[in-house]
Amino acid sequence: MARITVPQFTAMKAAGERITMLTAYDYTMARLLDAAGVDALLVGDSLAMVVQGQENTLPVTLDEMIYHAEMVGRAAEHALTVVDMPFPTNLVGPHKAIENAARILKETRCQAVKLEGGAEQAEIIAALTVAGIPVMGHVGLRPQSVHTLGGYKMERDAERLMTDAKAVQQAGAFAIVLECVPAEMAKAVTAELAIPTIGIGAGRDCDGQVLVINDLLGINSGYVPRFVKAYADVATTIDSAVKQFREEVRDGRFPGEEQTLG
Ligand code: KIV
Repeated sequence: MARITVPQFTAMKAAGERITMLTAYDYTMARLLDAAGVDALLVGDSLAMVVQGQENTLPVTLDEMIYHAEMVGRAAEHALTVVDMPFPTNLVGPHKAIENAARILKETRCQAVKLEGGAEQAEIIAALTVAGIPVMGHVGLRPQSVHTLGGYKMERDAERLMTDAKAVQQAGAFAIVLECVPAEMAKAVTAELAIPTIGIGAGRDCDGQVLVINDLLGINSGYVPRFVKAYADVATTIDSAVKQFREEVRDGRFPGEEQTLG
């Protein structure tokens, strides 16, 4: 199966096809999600919290993002692969941003980058696009601005959201994530833009939806926002499998005859 290209991804909006995107951080999970037919895999900087156990997304480095993106890029046969530009590698001026984003594309087999920010990022998005680096925008709640915002706050300024989304599209982004915005505001932005909107905590009227894979699988050990839906309880499955293994080793039932080499 051929990989979804950036133009094909953007064209899904006009075709009325709802888009699915999930985060992936390693080869095994990326293969499973790709085989299940998800349209895009996002190597999100959420890996700082989900994989590394950090307090927020700020500590993850470009090298670490590339390390994980390589695994995901190697696994994807169908899905479009997108990699987050970690803080502050997209905020360092157009030339350095191109250098950083180009490393991602050159070293990982991934096809696009995502960067947080609205109108203030237009210059960077335009520079990357001109350099042949496809950009997915990200407006609304921006986790990389957690300290400036004083927490993870919902975007409630409809005018600012619309201005930011339009500026990101105008600068050349091929799609845009809307994070944590009231459903009515996301609906209005989705109707206004030609590029697909991918929502997370942004209601059902976006062109697509993205979730953090650990949240979807029910293996999130920390705070779970209300907009998340866990489609499985993998944490419980892991817990009972590990406890069973422990008991069987302790009482001599594992390895059994079947697992014993002659
Ligand atoms: O890093 C991430 O996982 C993200 C999604 C929440 C969109 O940016």
